[in-house]
Amino acid sequence: MNFHVMTLFPDMVKNGLMTSIIGRAVENNYITVNTYDIRDYTTDKHRKVDDYPYGGGAGMLMQAQPVFDCAQAVKERIGHEARVIFMTPQGRTFNQRIAEELAKEEDLVFLCGHYEGIDERVLEEIVTDEISIGDYVLTGGEMAAMIVIDAVSRLVPGVLSNEDSGVIESFSGNLLEYPQYSRPEVWMGKSVPEVLLSGNHKEIEKWRLETAKERTLRKRPDLYKKYERECEIIKYLNSEKAINADMTEAIRLNRLRIIYDSNDVIALIDTGKTKISLYAKDDKGIGEFYDFAKENGFIGVPVLLRGMDAGPLLDKGYKLTGEFKEVAYTRGVPIGTKEVTDEVTDNIRSEINDLLLSGELPIKLVPFGDVETLAVYEKLQFRISKKSLYFCEPLC
Ligand SMILES: C[S@@+](CC[C@H](N)C(=O)[O-])C[C@H]1O[C@@H](n2cnc3c(N)ncnc32)[C@H](O)[C@@H]1O
Repeated sequence: MNFHVMTLFPDMVKNGLMTSIIGRAVENNYITVNTYDIRDYTTDKHRKVDDYPYGGGAGMLMQAQPVFDCAQAVKERIGHEARVIFMTPQGRTFNQRIAEELAKEEDLVFLCGHYEGIDERVLEEIVTDEISIGDYVLTGGEMAAMIVIDAVSRLVPGVLSNEDSGVIESFSGNLLEYPQYSRPEVWMGKSVPEVLLSGNHKEIEKWRLETAKERTLRKRPDLYKKYERECEIIKYLNSEKAINADMTEAIRLNRLRIIYDSNDVIALIDTGKTKISLYAKDDKGIGEFYDFAKENGFIGVPVLLRGMDAGPLLDKGYKLTGEFKEVAYTRGVPIGTKEVTDEVTDNIRSEINDLLLSGELPIKLVPFGDVETLAVYEKLQFRISKKSLYFCEPLC
């Protein structure tokens, strides 16, 4: 992953990031941090980059020309379109979810303001995202960009030596992390909780979940409420496990965002907004979802519907472009070679075993009419949904 930072103070960014874990990640080529001195792009012979704001007011403003030319140079270097993030107290407040969303990009460009900010016209021209690190005002965007780069880098595979430590920690779900202890076993008369010394991993997991819940409820009741709602949604979706396993797994792994949840209708979306996973049970549910989608700009996104047939969605202006069965491998133990008779089955078997190893539940969608593939999954003891899932695309 490559970070590109446009700033008047490149040394501040380099020096701030080139130590410890992030510094090592750069040395080991997991990430690159490229800085661009906006001053190098000014056409002013005195290398000036700021001027007084029209209409008066305190302070100086960074001018449009050097920022724009700098952005053009970055764009040329990257060679493809990339998100340009303006660090500003006026942006979306940064959080772990945004970090996860940004970690999927190959290149990210940051624009750091200074003085009183930047001429609005160049912001309109080049900026795709605005991010704030909190409701306070800093003297410049450099530290804010470093914070975002740090949080995003930790999610890039390889940056943390133990990849797991990036997964199970505060904010990755809606729970804060459980308490942690290291040597010595007793310090200042305080002992490490016994269960952690027991070697019983099931009990340890249970204790960790309970303590995480307890401290989230105590320290962040707002987050705990979200956690509870997520648990209710998973329980509800599990009432039709065979068609909803992909949705519950996506919530568990934080892959899809819940955009709509009324009592009967659940809708999730991916970060690229390429598909909505929808569980609805009747016409009323579809009507509710459709009104929500219209109001919130989701009408152009294809829908994978389960729980009912696609008729009511087609009445709303979608066309049916695919019918699928959901297949899930729920036995947990790796698939052996006994059932394997050919190359296709063997490929599926090793793919499934890799997923199991990484802690994921193997789930696939198979076209309704593809009887041969469905037979392979059946042979490998997958659960195959009786009901279908319908892929519907908007007509226009
Ligand atoms: C003094 S601030 C300018 C604030 C600007 N006049 C305003 O009210 O929006 C200078 C620069 O610091 C950065 N900055 C300040 N506070 C920030 C925050 N909370 N999050 C991200 N960047 C911030 C921005 O890049 C901003 O352009």
